[in-house]
This record gives sequence, structure tokens and C-alpha cells, in this order.
Amino acid sequence: MTQNTTTPATTRVALVTGGSGGIGRAVALRLVADGFAVGVHYAGNKGRAEAVVAEVAARGGQAIAVGGDVADERDMSAAFDRVEEAFGGIDVVVNTAGIMVLAPIAELDLDDLDRVHRTNVRGTFVVSQQAARRVRPGGAIVNFSTSVTRTQLPTYGAYVASKAAVESITLILARELRGKDITVNAVAPGPTATPLFLQGKDDTTIANFAKATPLERLGEPDDIADAVAFLAGPARWVNGQVIFANGGLT
Ligand SMILES: NC(=O)c1ccc[n+]([C@@H]2O[C@H](COP(=O)([O-])OP(=O)(O)OC[C@H]3O[C@@H](n4cnc5c(N)ncnc54)[C@H](OP(=O)(O)O)[C@@H]3O)[C@@H](O)[C@H]2O)c1
Repeated sequence: MTQNTTTPATTRVALVTGGSGGIGRAVALRLVADGFAVGVHYAGNKGRAEAVVAEVAARGGQAIAVGGDVADERDMSAAFDRVEEAFGGIDVVVNTAGIMVLAPIAELDLDDLDRVHRTNVRGTFVVSQQAARRVRPGGAIVNFSTSVTRTQLPTYGAYVASKAAVESITLILARELRGKDITVNAVAPGPTATPLFLQGKDDTTIANFAKATPLERLGEPDDIADAVAFLAGPARWVNGQVIFANGGLT
């Protein structure tokens, strides 16, 4: 592992999976604002990850784009290697990569079930495994669930089953990392204005989701990035928790 001479040893380093996505982009930019050097991970949308890297550079920060399928252990091992080689180590891993397919359980195509679980469950497991081996003491691992693990909406069966697994992986890893000074938590957003939420929904459906929270609006990616920044930075006494960031949705 070689330390990039332009990265001071005191700079904290984060890898954000799904950095090409709506929430991942906001998390990457927020962590850069908080002084992190960031690996911006993508799967299919390299251009969007490179645009985030360019935005970071324009703000005077440090970032690189790293590709790979979160469910592929070779891809992710290589992605972690690249971030360590560029910045000297990894302190925080934020695993936002995820997909959603909605259909009633009676009608769901089982190939879609496998696809959702491969990315959300195996992907979270692979990224958590790499993070558990590599994150430096004082660091944090943040996985992504959803508030629908509480609200239990129809059509969310495949997706919520995968996110319930994410919550379990997270809470067990927090206990397994006893003595390492590494926190492990999950953030569970409510409806947040990104392609994952907006695609396939008409205006009335979106307005109804917005009205459902006491704050009567959708979440913005920056709202979720605030919760991640807390867990990645000052929140050293928050460990083994699922943090619901949803404007008070019940
Ligand atoms: N938006 C919401 O309302 C909401 C609510 C609750 C929870 N969440 C959770 O929040 C997280 C981020 O969601 P988002 O709204 O930001 O979604 P998004 O904009 O659709 O972004 C999803 C990200 O996941 C990446 N990804 C998908 N499949 C992948 C794979 N196999 N390997 C690696 N990366 C993969 C995508 O990469 P490419 O684009 O490069 O392929 C993209 O960067 C997800 O885990 C989601 O379940 C979202």
C-alpha cells in the first residue's frame, strides 16, 4: 500500500458505494465538505461518478472514482485496494448501493427477487466483509436500509426482505467488531427524491408519499447525508443502531 504524497496522514478517508446515485452523491460531497478524501464508487454509471469527482476537485477536495459490482468480492476487493493506494487507508465505508423492484408477492418475478437480493444482501455482505477487514480504528461503517422495514407497505416484499437482512448484518457486525473502535450502523431513509424512489411513480403517488410525513415533504439526498455525516464523524457513541431518517414517517 503506498500513501499518496498529496494526502496528509491526518486526512480521513471514506469509500462511498453507489456514489453515482442520488444519495451516494450527496454523501460523498458532504463527507468531502467535512474534510474526507473520498472514493466515489459506481457500477454502471461511470460518467456520474466522474462528475462527482470533478465537483469535488472544483471544491478543492480529493476524490477518485472506483467501479465494481458490490456483490462481486473481487470487484470490491479491488475497489478497496484502489482507495487505500490513493489515500493511504480507509476510515469510513458508506454502503448506499442498492436496487428496488416493487410488485405484490403473488406476482413478483423470482428472477427479480434474486436480483434484488444479490445486490442488496450479498452486496451489503461483501462490502461489510471488506470494511470489517480494512477500516482503521476510530472508523465507521454505515449500511443502508429503508423506513419500509417499519411501514411494511404492500408491493415492497422483495425489497424489504433484503433490507431486513441488511439491518441484521449491520447489528451483528457491530457486535463482532468488539474492541476494534469501529462503529457499525444502518441509515433507514424514508421516501427521498432520487431516481430509485421517483422512477415509475405518478405525480399523485409522489404527492401522497410527501404528505405522509409530519414534515409534509419528501426527503432530499442532503437530509440523508446529514445523518451519515453524524455517524461518520462525531457519533462515536452510536453503535449497532438503525437510524430512521424520514421526517417522522410512521
Ligand atoms: N430514495 C429513497 O427513497 C430511498 C429510501 C429508502 C432507502 N433507500 C436506499 O438508499 C440507497 C441509495 O438509494 P438512492 O435513492 O440513492 O438510489 P439510486 O439513485 O438509484 O442509486 C443507486 C446506486 O446503487 C448503485 N448500484 C446499483 N446496483 C449496484 C451493484 N450491483 N453494484 C454496485 N452498485 C450498484 C448504482 O450504481 P450505478 O448507477 O453506477 O449503476 C447507484 O449508484 C439504496 O440502498 C436504497 O435502497 C433509498
